[in-house]
Amino acid sequence: MTAVADVVEAHRIPVLLRLTPNLYALAYRLMKMVPARHILREARRAGTLTAGTTVVETTSGTFGLALAMQCALDAQPLVLVGDPVIDARLHRQLTDLGARVDIVREPAARGGFQAPRLARVAEIRAGIPDTFCPEQYTNPANPDSYSLIADLLVDRLGQVDCLVGPVGSGGSMCGTTRYLREAGPGMVSIGVDANHSVLFGQDDGPRTLRGLGNSLLPANLDHTQFDEVHWLGAPEAYAATRALHRGHALFMGPTSGAAFLVGSWWARWHPDALTVVVLPDEGHRYHDTVYDDAWLAANGMVGPTRAAPREVATPGEGTDGWCRFAWRRRTLAEARDGALAEVVGS
Ligand SMILES: Cc1ncc(COP(=O)(O)O)c(C=O)c1O
Repeated sequence: MTAVADVVEAHRIPVLLRLTPNLYALAYRLMKMVPARHILREARRAGTLTAGTTVVETTSGTFGLALAMQCALDAQPLVLVGDPVIDARLHRQLTDLGARVDIVREPAARGGFQAPRLARVAEIRAGIPDTFCPEQYTNPANPDSYSLIADLLVDRLGQVDCLVGPVGSGGSMCGTTRYLREAGPGMVSIGVDANHSVLFGQDDGPRTLRGLGNSLLPANLDHTQFDEVHWLGAPEAYAATRALHRGHALFMGPTSGAAFLVGSWWARWHPDALTVVVLPDEGHRYHDTVYDDAWLAANGMVGPTRAAPREVATPGEGTDGWCRFAWRRRTLAEARDGALAEVVGS
């Protein structure tokens, strides 16, 4: 038995599991504990966070839970600004941990809830004298926090040939990739996004998959870290989440299923390469949705899914389920304009 310092430590250190001879899963109980603890520690070190400071952040998901757990341990006041996607159970868990949860009910005409949530954060901060905002989308301490994970991977595996993971703020994939490339600059990094997310050059549109994808471009997303981008629809990600459970008894959330689908496909085609797939959270929050066949059927989430991705020549073409685009470590402008130029010139 390994003793750990506290519950945050127990959640942020992932387990590394071998799924097939060349495919490993980096399975977190709650990945967002990695940036949550690091960002708060760095702020304390910099003097921007002291004992009485109120932490204010916008999140409807796992980053909020991670902050609430850390703030409960530190007796640090916390206000979380979310939207109606916060389910009743998570809401109760957050308030039980001592967080105040403020729900924004009206989305913007474009871009969903993100912009009104940011406006509400500014409003709350203006009314409290001493606040600190972790800003997971822009704070460089988010990607930096994953040096811990890269060290762990290098320590256990030596070299990783390919890393596959979901992208939301960009922190986990960009940070882990950057540090792993210090040991192996040739490592292939594959980002997994949702159809109709703006992260890798698609137009914003309705999305059911949560946790990956975004309506706004986060500063922490460094596009030049990625060799490939895959987009998925919710039915494919949900089916893969269930396959991960059934095939490997790993009870994880849908962003894990999305990464597992892409990672196992890549590993099959590269049997001599060691692939690591990032699984960011456990399945408990998705009992009544992803793990409920009746919910899946009622919400049109059961249907034919591709056995392999459809190759696309531009990001804009990849909106209909599982698609793959050779990003080649380009900036967003380079990838979008370069792809268009290649299509026009072909
Ligand atoms: C469950 C889950 N998976 C994946 C991600 C994406 O991670 P990142 O924000 O580091 O890109 C998030 C982000 O919130 C998440 O909540």
